[in-house]
Amino acid sequence: MRGKDQKKDPKLRDGVKVQQQPGVSRREFLKISGLTAAVPLVTGPKMIEVGGAEVAIYGPGKTPVALIVNGRNYAAQLEPRVTLLDALRNEFELTGAKRVCDRGTCGACTVLMQGKPVYSCSVLAIEAQGKPIITAEGLLNGEQLHPVQQAFIDNDAQQCGFCTPGFVVACKALLDKHPQPTAEDIRHGLSGNFCRCGTYAGIRKAVMQAAGSRKGA
Ligand code: FES
Ligand code: FES
Repeated sequence: MRGKDQKKDPKLRDGVKVQQQPGVSRREFLKISGLTAAVPLVTGPKMIEVGGAEVAIYGPGKTPVALIVNGRNYAAQLEPRVTLLDALRNEFELTGAKRVCDRGTCGACTVLMQGKPVYSCSVLAIEAQGKPIITAEGLLNGEQLHPVQQAFIDNDAQQCGFCTPGFVVACKALLDKHPQPTAEDIRHGLSGNFCRCGTYAGIRKAVMQAAGSRKGA
């Protein structure tokens, strides 16, 4: 009987009359909360004053990030905590740079930033804005391999190949700095990259071949 009465009158709960509260109902509140969680939060920078100067504070929500990679412009809405490596791989589908240690020790994620090799896992994407980035993909000239890439193939300088894009980029940076490197230059220039398969002898030969082809050119 009680159940029937409650079904008839939605305002009756356990025999007690429930007053309809003004404002948002619980059901409506849940709907709005779900909607808020599904919509990405995009915020502009907050400005604060530090020592008389206006300073922009980004995040924690998403903010517009624009990068120049391999001569092309890329843009995305990213949280400020997103690394350059994750932006390249997850947002722009440039998967040449590899994630191995994700903590700046192995070199598999090496890219050039303003011509210098950096671990892209240790640079925030937001910090890389306005600084041209070159990845292993960007070394290709159309269909033609870069001399370093060709030299890696000619000298069997890779096995599983996972470290290879990082090494190729590091070798390019090394040769830009030392066009005719000594054994010590090579050792020092590649000391930030590790190959678990141990292809170091092939990599050293590849560097020498690429240096020779530059000399010839
Ligand atoms: S993945 Fe960046 S240094 Fe290892
Ligand atoms: S070729 Fe396998 S890790 Fe270097």
